[in-house]
Amino acid sequence: MPPFYITTPIYYVNDAPHVGHAYATVNADAIARWHRLRGDEVFFLTGTDEHGAKVAETAHEHGLSPSQWADQTARRFRDTWQRLNISNDDFIRTTEDRHRRTVQQFLGQIHDNGYIELGTYRGLYCVACEDYYTPEQLHDGNCPVHSRPAIEMEEENYFFRLSAFEERLLSWYAEVPDAVQPPARRNEALAFIKGGLRDISITRTSLRWGVPVPWDDRHVFYVWYDALVNYLTAIGYGSDDPAWTKWWSAVHHVIGKEIVRFHCVWWPAMCMAAGIDPPRHIFAHGWLLVGGEKLSKTLIRQVGEERGTPLSLTEVAPAALVEQFGVDPLRYHLLRDTPFGSDGEFSYESMVSRFNADLANNLGNLVSRVARVVESKCGGIGPPPSPDSPLATAAAESVSAAQAAWERFAPHEALEATWRLIGAANAELEATEPWKAEPGPAVNAVLGSALEALRIIALLVSPAMPASAQEIWRRIGLGGSPEDQRVPADAAWGSYPGGLHVETGPALFPRRRE
Ligand code: MSP
Repeated sequence: MPPFYITTPIYYVNDAPHVGHAYATVNADAIARWHRLRGDEVFFLTGTDEHGAKVAETAHEHGLSPSQWADQTARRFRDTWQRLNISNDDFIRTTEDRHRRTVQQFLGQIHDNGYIELGTYRGLYCVACEDYYTPEQLHDGNCPVHSRPAIEMEEENYFFRLSAFEERLLSWYAEVPDAVQPPARRNEALAFIKGGLRDISITRTSLRWGVPVPWDDRHVFYVWYDALVNYLTAIGYGSDDPAWTKWWSAVHHVIGKEIVRFHCVWWPAMCMAAGIDPPRHIFAHGWLLVGGEKLSKTLIRQVGEERGTPLSLTEVAPAALVEQFGVDPLRYHLLRDTPFGSDGEFSYESMVSRFNADLANNLGNLVSRVARVVESKCGGIGPPPSPDSPLATAAAESVSAAQAAWERFAPHEALEATWRLIGAANAELEATEPWKAEPGPAVNAVLGSALEALRIIALLVSPAMPASAQEIWRRIGLGGSPEDQRVPADAAWGSYPGGLHVETGPALFPRRRE
């Protein structure tokens, strides 16, 4: 089984999980589930980023210690992922001992290799970003991301000699052209490198809430250097050589577009400095926007106030959407509505209309109508499919398009391809109208083929909507789970055995009021 290691960024614990975070995690989860279906050995990692000035500040504002605050918020992320049926194999917290040890070991190695030096750093710092900016990058002295003033800071720091890696990074980009995707993000990172790299400060003395520098404990590592190392901690870097080498060769980092510089410039350079390969693949997605701006706690509040209508954080909190729409419809919307890689507008209204169009009218309708006609024309026993049904070609086309799309991290296209098969199956029923015909071989062939299409549809939707896929599987009389199947072999036309009891049941996706 080829290994497939997929990671999400680890989320800052200064914010509660919102739909923007769910967007990133659900996409990574569906890709992980697809690879399990392919038969890969998958390791899927997510977690929380708990050190740094911002978290310490937020904890203080709430009258808690940083570790009490981190415990509380990490739990909310964990609970949210459980609620959304996220299949992560591990959940890493940067305050864990295993992580502290790995950070010290990995950065200690870079230090031993001569790429970390002491110096003085002066600069303009945004506490919210945990990052320094050059005056040109600021907008009227304000951070370009948070629009709040950057403050003057001067510190004795250890510096990572990033400048020593300019040439090596450029050769890596040339040798592995698909390492950073999509191409726009690759070009952005390349342009940054070509613009010249300066050494970067990687420790702080102004703060205790971090991982101590092992050779000088007056310093702690700057939160980003600590955070990036999580990808190595979880696979046993420094403690389990066979495991980490296996997983590291198959790593895929899913990240948001604003953290490209950290992941596509600094991180590969750090890996090179420590003597390991840079990450194999980094895919940067866009943002989910509300009213054209990145979804964040402040923004949600602000937009709500401006509109004077009830857009609140709790409305776009994943749990609230789950309550209104269900887990799978939320997952489906996040995967299907926005091409992975581009920005997308999130609105309640579009969620309702996509729910009604794709789930209630298309998929849900297909499932219930097939079951009803099997009941009335075949006494509830599903017939086998016909080998020369027109749906056989439609299914083969959808399976191969969906497979290609999942494999290039394009869940929206994979689902589009899947819905073409759903559309074809509904159209075939409309054309043949088995509900009007006399029971007999012609009706059996149409219904058997519709059931076979449903079997394949269940397989193809399972990474996006695992519970609904399981329910379709059960209703058409199949035992076990779609997740025990292997694609593409088990998605080939003709495996629905027939002779199974097909169950009618309540609508899978009852229509919502527009
Ligand atoms: N802690 C760092 C990541 C360290 S990884 C070694 C961080 N955390 S974050 O919580 O601010 O963001 C985590 C991820 O969530 C980012 O990839 C970011 O793009 C994503 N999202 C946060 N809001 C988002 C949207 N509104 N839309 C899509 N993704 C968004 O950065």
